[in-house]
Amino acid sequence: MKAVILAGGSGTRLYPTTLVVNKHLLPIYNKPMIYYPLSIAMLLGISEVGIVVNPQDLAAFKSLLSDGSWLGMKIQFFEQDKPRGLADGLIVCKDFVDDSNLLYILGDNILFGHDLVKVLKEGAERVLKQGGACVFGYYVNDPTRFGVVEFDESGNVLSVEEKPSKPRSNYAIVGLYFFDKAACEIARSVKPSERGELEITSVLEEYLKMNKLFAKVIGRGFAWFDAGTHDSFLEAGEFVARIEQRTGLMIGCVEEIAFRNGWIDKNSLINLAKPLSKTSYGQYLMRIAGEKP
Ligand code: DAU
Repeated sequence: MKAVILAGGSGTRLYPTTLVVNKHLLPIYNKPMIYYPLSIAMLLGISEVGIVVNPQDLAAFKSLLSDGSWLGMKIQFFEQDKPRGLADGLIVCKDFVDDSNLLYILGDNILFGHDLVKVLKEGAERVLKQGGACVFGYYVNDPTRFGVVEFDESGNVLSVEEKPSKPRSNYAIVGLYFFDKAACEIARSVKPSERGELEITSVLEEYLKMNKLFAKVIGRGFAWFDAGTHDSFLEAGEFVARIEQRTGLMIGCVEEIAFRNGWIDKNSLINLAKPLSKTSYGQYLMRIAGEKP
């Protein structure tokens, strides 16, 4: 399975902060936002990742992540010339995705919780076995701000709607999806919505018409942030800080995950830690490598 992370868009809800800096490069506490969705792909064992970026931000992303080899990964970038919507990322990455099943993650979504990987893997396995697509529902107070999914007790989806004024359920669609190989072709066939975007929910609706759309719940024990507004951005950073300070363990530390996955060895980890040695981040990497900071 490959992964695609969407890190384009205009970030208008974070203006003026994002007028000249891409949202996904801003820090959520002690690391760039893009590390969080990237770490989810890595935790799922996916080492081949495509990242969709705006042309003006390509150089910055490349300078941060290069080709991914420092993490034992293969990272490629794809330019989206305009923010045409979430389904457009599937079109932009079509050749990269090829015939692969796909984990598709929105670059501003941050997820955390014990056994998260287990829940996500169950969704991935359903798609690998049966084909189709899997979404994750998270119970929220105000579903009108999100895509909304309605489903039965077997996880079969009954409806999906993008930011409905009268939601049919309280389950927001988390910005993380598993797709079978049909997704890119489906994305090419969808028409822009009333707000002029190629909506990811339109792709989901096509899967629904074929009875191939499943939902899994990400329960109340998990934390989910869509760090796309000033308040949610701050909330996500505060949350990461509190958990990391309390446990002494990091969330979204890509070097640690690469090491634990066996994708880089101890020496490589130490070499990554050295230039960061003045920070608690670098000292943490040394600790993970089994060395004194
Ligand atoms: O966060 C979950 C929600 O994300 C879902 O519940 C919704 O169904 C889904 O449409 C999406 O809604 P948002 O309004 O939050 O999407 P936003 O425009 O913020 O874009 C999400 C990410 O995708 C963001 O990191 C920027 C990136 N993006 C966005 C657009 C429109 C792109 O890379 N290219 C684009 O063209």
